[in-house]
Amino acid sequence: MTAVTQTETPPLSTPRPARGGLKSEAPAGADWRVERPRDHSRVSQADGRPRPASEGLKKRSTQIAVLRLWHAVLAGGFVVAWATGDENTYALHQFSGYVVLAALMVRGLIAAFSPADSLLGWPKLSRAQVWDWLAIRRGRNPLFAGLALALLATVAATAASGAIADWVTWMEHPHEAASDITLAVIFAHIAFVFYQYGGRPWVLTQIRRIRASLWGMK
Ligand code: HEM
Ligand code: HEM
Repeated sequence: MTAVTQTETPPLSTPRPARGGLKSEAPAGADWRVERPRDHSRVSQADGRPRPASEGLKKRSTQIAVLRLWHAVLAGGFVVAWATGDENTYALHQFSGYVVLAALMVRGLIAAFSPADSLLGWPKLSRAQVWDWLAIRRGRNPLFAGLALALLATVAATAASGAIADWVTWMEHPHEAASDITLAVIFAHIAFVFYQYGGRPWVLTQIRRIRASLWGMK
């Protein structure tokens, strides 16, 4: 069976196992990879009937493809809108800004009609999840879901305030402020993704090197 839950599964990609680190531990997120059935030919459904094992994996890779495409449209639209906020490039700004707004609406619709265990639902974050992770420091870091929710909220605030600023002039300042806050969250998002998906061993090696050169520590 393909045990996948939205709270535990990386929507867009799976991080590579850490090659090094200050302490030896399971690669971040190892437990939220898809559990492949031992018998690859058949697995049981809830009603007991067997079904091809690849069915769940296929569904999941389709969901990942949809999320990746959506992510590309959202991120691309945002970058273009951010770079064209000037008066001279206003037409492109308007277009890309509305593309971002439309992408968020589509995401909302998809999430609303997706089953609970789908990757296409909203990212979920609970206090219990955070406490559990802090206690064992293993598995999926809740900052993934936290940053995803912060991004969705700030990008939505930027695009919606922009759409209002199109009609109500005094909204231009809140709109600019919202876009600056969103940019900060995006930087945090990219830094965190880099750290988790391959940059972590590199960062830890640099920390070790600096500590060794300063204090002779290993
Ligand atoms: C170099 C640039 C970027 C990279 C490499 C990147 C990578 C990723 C990855 C790997 C995830 C999945 C994280 C997870 O496992 O939960 C993700 C999620 C997300 N990213 Fe980015 N991202 C980039 C830029 C952006 C930008 C510019 C935006 C916003 C305009 C953005 C918005 C989001 C959102 C909203 C999600 C959550 C998707 C969801 O679960 O609904 N990303 N990104
Ligand atoms: C989420 C995507 C968006 C981002 C990142 C964004 C970003 C920005 C930024 C940085 C500015 C300030 C530019 C400057 O003064 O130098 C700006 C201005 C503005 N934006 Fe957006 N915006 C977005 C979406 C929208 C949308 C959907 C609209 C609706 C048409 C819009 C309408 C405006 C207006 C009217 C201004 C003021 C333009 C001016 O001062 O001449 N924005 N935006």
